[in-house]
Amino acid sequence: MKTAVYCALLTLFSTIAYAEQKTYRKDIRPLWEARCAMCHGVNSPYVGEFKEDKQKFIAHSQGPRMDTYADLVSFVSWPDTGAIMRRLDDGKNTPDGKPGNMYGHLGTNEAERQKNLALFKEWLGKDAWTLKRRADITKEELDRIVAAY
Ligand code: HEC
Repeated sequence: MKTAVYCALLTLFSTIAYAEQKTYRKDIRPLWEARCAMCHGVNSPYVGEFKEDKQKFIAHSQGPRMDTYADLVSFVSWPDTGAIMRRLDDGKNTPDGKPGNMYGHLGTNEAERQKNLALFKEWLGKDAWTLKRRADITKEELDRIVAAY
């Protein structure tokens, strides 16, 4: 009996704690399908293959494939640390103040782009948005990345 009460409480508390958490399945996947899938979907090569023949794929508007949670996250944390952030940033964090070259794909107008950028940032986690590469990112910065499934 005690165990049952304990379990019920635990479920309740974890539901409250995660109620606001953005997730890949609920928030990012639909956005990705609408705005990124046409160039990063099943017909695109995995990043290793993409890099071997970059110009050919770019000529066909194909970027590296990132159509699963695991593939997308590999452009967030490891091995392509910060790639998503560098490409999607609106220019507020880039060294030259210019937006990343995928920022424009986030929406058809500035309001939509900002809304979707904010969604990506929230998904990553509080203060987790950094454009740093693998060689420069700190353990503390990596630990901030949530990017929940
Ligand atoms: C019209 C096609 C197109 C759309 C739409 C598009 N991309 Fe891309 N993307 C590309 C191409 C082509 C490249 C490779 C060329 C380059 O590096 O700029 C690329 C590169 C990238 C990279 C760099 C990958 C690496 O090798 O490090 C990331 C990250 C990325 N895109 C994310 C996104 C996200 C997220 C979206 C949706 C918001 C998106 N892209 C929408 C075509 C597209």
